Amino acid sequence: MCGIVGYIGKDNAKNIVINGLKRLEYRGYDSAGVAFIDSGKLKIYKKSGKIRDLEFELNRDLSLPHIAIGHTRWATHGEPNDVNAHPHVDCTGKIAVVHNGIIENFTELKKELESRGHIFKSKTDTEVIAHLVEEEIKNGKNLLSAVLSATSKLKGSYAAAVIYEGEPDKIVCVRKDSPLVIGVGEGENFLASDVPAFLSYTNRVIFLDDNECAVITADNVHIFDLNGNEITKETKEIPWSIAQAEKGGYKHFMIKEIYEQPRAVADTISGKLSLFEENNRELLTTFGKIQIVACGTSYHAGLVGKFFIESVAGIPVSVDYASEYRYRNPIIDEKTLIIAISQSGETADTLAAVRLAKKKGAKVVAICNVIGSTITREADYTIYTHAGPEISVASTKAFTTQLAALFLFAVEAARIRNKITKKKEERLLKALSEIPAKMKEFLDRESEEGQVRKIALEFYNSQDALYLGRFVNYPIALEGALKLKEISYIHAEGYPAGEMKHGPIALIDEKMPVVVVVPRDRVYEKMVSNIEEVKARKGKVIAITNRDCLEVKKLADFAIEIPETEELLYPFLTVVPLQLFAYHIADFLGYDVDQPRNLAKSVTVE
Ligand code: F6R
Repeated sequence: MCGIVGYIGKDNAKNIVINGLKRLEYRGYDSAGVAFIDSGKLKIYKKSGKIRDLEFELNRDLSLPHIAIGHTRWATHGEPNDVNAHPHVDCTGKIAVVHNGIIENFTELKKELESRGHIFKSKTDTEVIAHLVEEEIKNGKNLLSAVLSATSKLKGSYAAAVIYEGEPDKIVCVRKDSPLVIGVGEGENFLASDVPAFLSYTNRVIFLDDNECAVITADNVHIFDLNGNEITKETKEIPWSIAQAEKGGYKHFMIKEIYEQPRAVADTISGKLSLFEENNRELLTTFGKIQIVACGTSYHAGLVGKFFIESVAGIPVSVDYASEYRYRNPIIDEKTLIIAISQSGETADTLAAVRLAKKKGAKVVAICNVIGSTITREADYTIYTHAGPEISVASTKAFTTQLAALFLFAVEAARIRNKITKKKEERLLKALSEIPAKMKEFLDRESEEGQVRKIALEFYNSQDALYLGRFVNYPIALEGALKLKEISYIHAEGYPAGEMKHGPIALIDEKMPVVVVVPRDRVYEKMVSNIEEVKARKGKVIAITNRDCLEVKKLADFAIEIPETEELLYPFLTVVPLQLFAYHIADFLGYDVDQPRNLAKSVTVE
């Protein structure tokens, strides 16, 4: 995740692109850069850190270019520094590229390009695009054809924009699985990964679709398919304010991020049959037990991860709150593998747990979202989730992408230790690959019918709520309760349903909403009995279940249906309605959903 901006027209392109990048700051970034063509020469400025540092340098350059592209980077390949910041150039220094997304086959492409004499300056996947375009131009193609040929070799996701000294009157851009929008002005045109970048100049936009390419000049926008056939697209008027546009038209970042989950999970699993490279594989073979450490929502992902790893790979796993682990004298040795899960990679307690484990000789694998964060620097190995920047304080897409990373870890550990048959591995990975589409199916239905929203309307005045689940959905009950309490300030508790009779059942009366997570799995009948117990005490039951779970649908006051999947994978789907339920309740109560009281996105103090 990062931001692209481009401008061509009568005004100072440098300034317009910098202003556009500032408008995309909300997406999060670690470095920024701008390329422009002035008096026939391509110039590049890029810097790690804040856009204002880049602006300071750019202001000392007095050129007044009419074409520029810019980028804010959220590192995926190569640490955040000046060299890895975009734009990237080819060997001749005449072609500049900015890119959002991930080029999955970049290692092969880079090897091939290097064998043909290309010199790479950065560690990024993006740089291959610049060199591929360079080769095509050398072979006599114009910029458009060169970009089309280059993109035909790419696997993965990309929104990319290219400028070239030899054709200084145009920007060529292309899109697959990463957003790209064109802003249509008068004698000037724009492009960006998101509308707010140019909304103060124009609200007329063309949304590029996957596998489309555009040639943008000051006076025209021509769109092509990837075979170079011109296509006609509608220009739309955007009625949003800039603040609305930053959230993609959603009211809050939290709801936007909930809806981003199919894409985020797909990015985390795409092309990752093997998380560990050859030289790191010993991390998977030498240990005898795993200790997972994390806080908050990441801790809940760890609890689900325990089910994944123990069931699939047969390795014993314990899960600790990092804040407890530090002080309980955990038994750690060189046969212990620590998995530290953290969205931010900066959580003080998780970091302290990592340091303690390392001191005692354990190896640490981090599951993190923020590239180059402290935990990733201190861990022996990092599995990155590709959730993109998570802006809402309440974590949603970070959680489901952590689940995806943990599941891939479990399958890989099982494979390497010969604990899984080929057939089972294929079945599980296929089921995982289907998860994004199933999440989307649910979210699309919710957009149309608003079922969870309507149920939230019934319950937003509640004082308390109880969440129950068993087996792999017990941690989802905990996560649902955490989501509700942190953003709506309603007291909520999550319990393993079997524990109800040991205490919490005393709380149930006709005022108590009880959310039960009950898909068709090995504990289904047990959960049905628990629902009966709740109903016998007049509790109001909201069930997250499957279409064919008729017993549940008969008993529950409200039944929310999720698609079917492998029983281990249900948490990916059952958590989504719980996130939405918490979100809508907080929204009905009029709270600042993205910035709940007393909470910070990154907890860097103990
Ligand atoms: C809850 C939430 C927090 C974080 C916790 C750990 O919605 O966001 O509970 O999960 O503070 O943060 P990370 O994952 O950054 O270590």
